[in-house]
Amino acid sequence: GPGRPHPAPRPTFTSVQPNTDDKVTIPRGYDQHVIIRWGDPVLPGAPEFDLDAQTAQAQEQQFGYNCDYVGFQLLDDDNGLLWVNHEYTNEELMFPGYTDGASADEEHIRIAMAAHGGSIVELKRHNGTGEWRLSDGERAFNRRLTATTPMRLTGPAAGHELLRTQDDPDGTLVKGMLNNCAGGMTPWGTFLTAEENFNQYFGNAPAGAEYARYGMGAGNASRRWDRVDERFDLARHPNEANRFGYIVEVDPLDPASEPLKRTMLGRIKHEGATIRLTDDGRVAAYMGDDERFDYMYKFVSAKKYVEGSRRHNLTLLDTGTLYVARLTGNSPSEEFDGSGALPEDGEFDGSGEWIALCTDTESFVDGFSVAEVLIRTRLAADTVGATKMDRPEDFEPSPVTGKVYCALTNNSAREPGQADEPNPRGPNKHGHILEIVESGSDAGATEFAWNVPIVCGDPEDDDTYYAGFDKSKVMPISAPDNLTFDKDGNLWISTDGQPGALGINDALHVVPVEGRFRGELRTFATVPVGAEACGPLITEDNKTVFLAPQHPGDGGTLAEPTSTWPDGDFPRPSVLCVWHTSGRDVGK
Ligand code: FEO
Ligand code: CA
Ligand code: CA
Ligand code: CA
Repeated sequence: GPGRPHPAPRPTFTSVQPNTDDKVTIPRGYDQHVIIRWGDPVLPGAPEFDLDAQTAQAQEQQFGYNCDYVGFQLLDDDNGLLWVNHEYTNEELMFPGYTDGASADEEHIRIAMAAHGGSIVELKRHNGTGEWRLSDGERAFNRRLTATTPMRLTGPAAGHELLRTQDDPDGTLVKGMLNNCAGGMTPWGTFLTAEENFNQYFGNAPAGAEYARYGMGAGNASRRWDRVDERFDLARHPNEANRFGYIVEVDPLDPASEPLKRTMLGRIKHEGATIRLTDDGRVAAYMGDDERFDYMYKFVSAKKYVEGSRRHNLTLLDTGTLYVARLTGNSPSEEFDGSGALPEDGEFDGSGEWIALCTDTESFVDGFSVAEVLIRTRLAADTVGATKMDRPEDFEPSPVTGKVYCALTNNSAREPGQADEPNPRGPNKHGHILEIVESGSDAGATEFAWNVPIVCGDPEDDDTYYAGFDKSKVMPISAPDNLTFDKDGNLWISTDGQPGALGINDALHVVPVEGRFRGELRTFATVPVGAEACGPLITEDNKTVFLAPQHPGDGGTLAEPTSTWPDGDFPRPSVLCVWHTSGRDVGK
């Protein structure tokens, strides 16, 4: 409970040094194995990958592109199911001679659509160690979801007229999910996967804030998917874009199940959704909306989680309350000039409230029905004084303390005069980490305390802060994106933007957040040239780190690749595992 000290066993490995090497670098004593690459067979009977003869039909059975969130569910001690998001495609690294969507081969467009979505693959533990490999068994759970897989809209907005289209007059059945970035796992064994920058697939948006606020406007989308499927042309199908931007729940144990788009969790550029149970057994989901000056959200279910009742638990995300966060600093606002200097009280901290936007039956936003809050969530949140954050990405609760962390990636557009205590730098080149302590440590609370334990960047720069820890003993970090915890309560942070901001490859860092080593940030892994460090997930036994280098070679082309990871020929987004060769817990 609150007030109890939680001294976490601290990581002890020797930090990886910053570098620009085209490989995954891990600490001494550890080994790595690339589990699955773009194009590797997923469904039983899928063809082997052939870069020069790729087809959409093959891609629909093979591992997709740009792996992001990684989830993992054990089936038994030695078998498990890996979930992987396929956020988007780098066509210039996939198709020889690709220039743009307007001139693209239509089959290439279909391949790209099939390379989106997600994958489920069965893994098998190797020799009792922390190494996991592809299962060579029946693989009955293996599955591919793509930009065309049928999915069900559920919750209060399902069926609303804003979700109805020519192809789906009921407004309940969508083809596919788009730009799935981060995600989460539920206590009942499902995966949550978050549709983020769905706007980029739609062209010719009608005028109006309901499109512009989500980044949709006039003109064609660059990928020109409308050339093979006219629903991506909003001039012809204006409601199609309303059917994307949701948290999607996927049941990995039922390969025939429809993925469920949960409208009750709102429609934003969802980075992820991370679950924590409330004191009375309901379900809270923390969610970031990754855009400069956008908001942090929380959903709290109406019903309680019932252990073992899968059928009941699969209804939990359809009724409850959707909140948005307002943060108030406790230091005078004049102390924040954008420089990042600590205020006189020595901490970036304050209080906050979760402002209810709606329940499943009642809207609290003037001029918005429940369905309108859930479909035009950004517009609703704009009216209630929510706090504009520096690109809120992944959330993660500590399994040890229950405190909740959010990665604020960066914000190049924040002016010095727009700096405030929760976002103290303007511009914010390197991002920061926010720590939230819910009132009574209850995830169902509507009030919280918060502070900023880490202000990222080069520790030699004055505008960085590592919770007061000696900055001569920490590593640089920029653009924190995905978060995860080990069972000891150390926070693992992967980055997306260190090459541009610091001139070094992206990385996976780990930092204690309790005790006297709070702020002692080390680098556990660096990823190949051009890649961001997605995934990270640590297995419950603390023996394995899953890591998903996304878009290796970004910035180059197939003809002139800047990365040839992992196989030395051309770049392939892949998922790997890292384990200690002596069987130690990871981080030790
Ligand atoms: Fe897809 Fe916000 O990262
Ligand atoms: Ca303060
Ligand atoms: Ca991300
Ligand atoms: Ca996470």
